[in-house]
Amino acid sequence: PVGAPDKSLAKKITKVGVIGAGLMASQFALLFVRRLQVPVIITDLDQARVDKGVAYIHDEIGKLEAKGRLDSDSANKLRSLVSGTTDKSLYADCDFVIEAVFEEVGVKQQVFGEIEKFIADDAILATNTSSLSVEEIGSTLAHPERLVGFHFFNPVAVMPLIEIVKTPQTSDAALSTAFVTAKGLRKNAVLTADAPGFVVNRLLAKVMGEAARAVYEGTPLLTVEKAFAPIGLPMTPFQLIDLVGWKVAAHVQDTMAHAFPERFFASENFHKLAELSEVVDKDKAGRVTGWSKSAEK
Ligand code: CAA
Repeated sequence: PVGAPDKSLAKKITKVGVIGAGLMASQFALLFVRRLQVPVIITDLDQARVDKGVAYIHDEIGKLEAKGRLDSDSANKLRSLVSGTTDKSLYADCDFVIEAVFEEVGVKQQVFGEIEKFIADDAILATNTSSLSVEEIGSTLAHPERLVGFHFFNPVAVMPLIEIVKTPQTSDAALSTAFVTAKGLRKNAVLTADAPGFVVNRLLAKVMGEAARAVYEGTPLLTVEKAFAPIGLPMTPFQLIDLVGWKVAAHVQDTMAHAFPERFFASENFHKLAELSEVVDKDKAGRVTGWSKSAEK
């Protein structure tokens, strides 16, 4: 891809750290195990969250086994490569650590700050942020050159793209490792500017935001869905909001509206929509909590 540095600079990955055990983190933790066949360690705020993430991965491995995509030896091997902990010192020998924690710059800086105490000087850090500034996230690191944006899409197992984001500080080794890793995961990588929403969320936020505005302005939600369906994208706007999760989608709107107030639908209105609509429960977070079921009624 344009802008990708010499792949010989890439660091060999022997162990991956995943910070966060939520839906996105668990999905890509599984992908790292499957495609790179290296140990993956997952952490979160408490053991219950960690256990939930690991259980999800075990479940998905079981489904692959049931579909005949994995034999039982391979499935067991994958399970044995996954471990969960709240002890961040166990990240010490990870050479690639990627976070998918709450989309707040301060939270991401804090978790990276904790992890950086334990990892080797040349270990790579990656953020799965979907719309925040990677440079700002890295600004409090002792080694900001090791940070690269590595943005997956939901569902991780099937979406073919990773957006790789470079900051002015990102080293060639970190960037090269990101590209080689994406290839190892069998994803297409594109290098995007470190601008709000990168490329994909910038476009999707527009679709989701305008769909929300149409409902807010009085068109029933299911009419918006029906009207959009023949356009032929794999998902209609509210199916997409549901897949991504209502809260995540609203957060992306927030970031975009903050960055480009004249171009994006303010999240304040996005939330007002939730109050107006009979089918949207503003306290629920999409598929994670079954919002789609209420939307189908
Ligand atoms: N996990 C694992 N595999 C999944 C999956 C999931 N959550 N959802 C679907 N799949 C797999 C299915 O198992 C199936 O695989 P096989 O054919 O090998 O059995 C395959 O995907 C197709 O699934 P289905 O036949 O059930 O459904 P479909 O044909 O309707 O496709 C879809 C489902 C791939 C999700 C498709 O609807 C799609 O591409 N939707 C658009 C998704 C999208 O735009 N994602 C980006 C969201 S934005 C984002 O993530 C960024 C952010 O930062 C917020």
